[in-house]
Amino acid sequence: MLALDSARWRTAWDEVMAGFVPGLASLEGAIGTATESVLGRSPTRVLDLGGGPGVLATRMAERWPEARVTMIDIDPVLLALARGGVPDAVTVLDADLGEPDWTGTAGDGYDLATAVMTVHYLRPERIRALYRSCHRALNPGGLLVVADLMPDDGLPFVSAALNPAPGEAAAELAWAQWWGEVASAFDDLMASRAEVFRDRPAANFAGSVAWHVAAARAAGFSEAGLLWRDGRHAALVALA
Ligand SMILES: C[S@@+](CC[C@H](N)C(=O)[O-])C[C@H]1O[C@@H](n2cnc3c(N)ncnc32)[C@H](O)[C@@H]1O
Repeated sequence: MLALDSARWRTAWDEVMAGFVPGLASLEGAIGTATESVLGRSPTRVLDLGGGPGVLATRMAERWPEARVTMIDIDPVLLALARGGVPDAVTVLDADLGEPDWTGTAGDGYDLATAVMTVHYLRPERIRALYRSCHRALNPGGLLVVADLMPDDGLPFVSAALNPAPGEAAAELAWAQWWGEVASAFDDLMASRAEVFRDRPAANFAGSVAWHVAAARAAGFSEAGLLWRDGRHAALVALA
């Protein structure tokens, strides 16, 4: 794979993700501001869960040049793109966030853990377990930020088919096109990818913010609430 292609695919991934979450840039700004204001300094160790090709991990390493950023993913194609593109300050780990032993690989002592558009892959009980693991991995006073589809509290979640968000069909198309293009360059890894997700189909769980707050509190976080919202997407922030 040419380094040039890797850079192009990572940039295109960013555009695809922004199609799903139009306010992605404002979310990243909110994560940065909340972290610096709660810690009273820049974080020194950051964990990005389900980091995909490492675009957020890279931007966090750029925002906080003194920080070590660790990202975890399980997708062999996205891990290859991350390894081909992240700066030295970012460590890329292959681990399953649906199993508790990822913490053994990632270690602890983190100031900030992020999970952007990752937890909807997991079933509710796995998300609760993930929050418990994050609480152990974070320093006291550290932050967990989880952004995903989180319907407004009190309203039932209706599927995108019944209630398509503006631009969602275009985002799905862009996602399919991105994977189609990347697949042609990663024949071997696409086969491993299919194997990885055969046993782990996306749960597509979309709990409300209240659900995530309750799960974070039950996992030991002292405070938890809404950090950010943009339409059906929202971000939980929880303090360890
Ligand atoms: C929609 S992508 C978001 C990627 C990245 N956070 C971003 O915002 O660009 C979801 C990510 O979660 C990862 N993922 C899903 N299930 C996982 C699991 N069980 N363990 C680790 N990563 C997982 C996927 O491989 C994918 O990279």
